[in-house]
Amino acid sequence: MYSLSELEQLCSECKKCRLCSTRKNAVFGEGSDRADIMFIGEGPGEQEDLQGRPFVGKAGKLLDKGIEALGLSRESVYIANIVKCRPPGNRVPEDDEAASCIEYLRWQVKLIDPKVIVLLGSTAGRNIIGKDFRITRQRGNVIEFGKFKIVPTYHPAAVLRDDTKKADFWSDLKLAVKIYGQIKNC
Ligand code: URA
Repeated sequence: MYSLSELEQLCSECKKCRLCSTRKNAVFGEGSDRADIMFIGEGPGEQEDLQGRPFVGKAGKLLDKGIEALGLSRESVYIANIVKCRPPGNRVPEDDEAASCIEYLRWQVKLIDPKVIVLLGSTAGRNIIGKDFRITRQRGNVIEFGKFKIVPTYHPAAVLRDDTKKADFWSDLKLAVKIYGQIKNC
């Protein structure tokens, strides 16, 4: 059994896929190691790669707004990605890259043991729920996944590109918190 800091160290030295050759920093994830709500995105962008932190660019600012609007703080949740290294040009991670990296995420979920997992976008959905995952069809629903409740929603970058997704994005985040409230009060 690894600790989060041991895993982070392993990630920083990882050479399991080609993304290691272009990264400036691996972006392990951050937040509370006892978070009840975990957000999972696709992979680091330019700013994340430079700073070694998840969701610190424009999409991250929108995610921050959402987290704050829910009465939460970035420090109280946990934020991670499917792949820990930036795909060049922010392309979607290849299946083999995601497959090499997903073990780190599995450990993170196991150690943090969140109650609710919010999947941000279709890459997160496809790699966690399955290859048939469709964001437009499955967002806004609660998916029972073993002991976890999963709420898929749009990736914040997609919301920034298309304003019409904003209302659904907010309502999905609110759903995640509502579900969490129900679990907590059980
Ligand atoms: N997009 C993601 O999916 N993850 C980040 O960390 C930043 C942007």
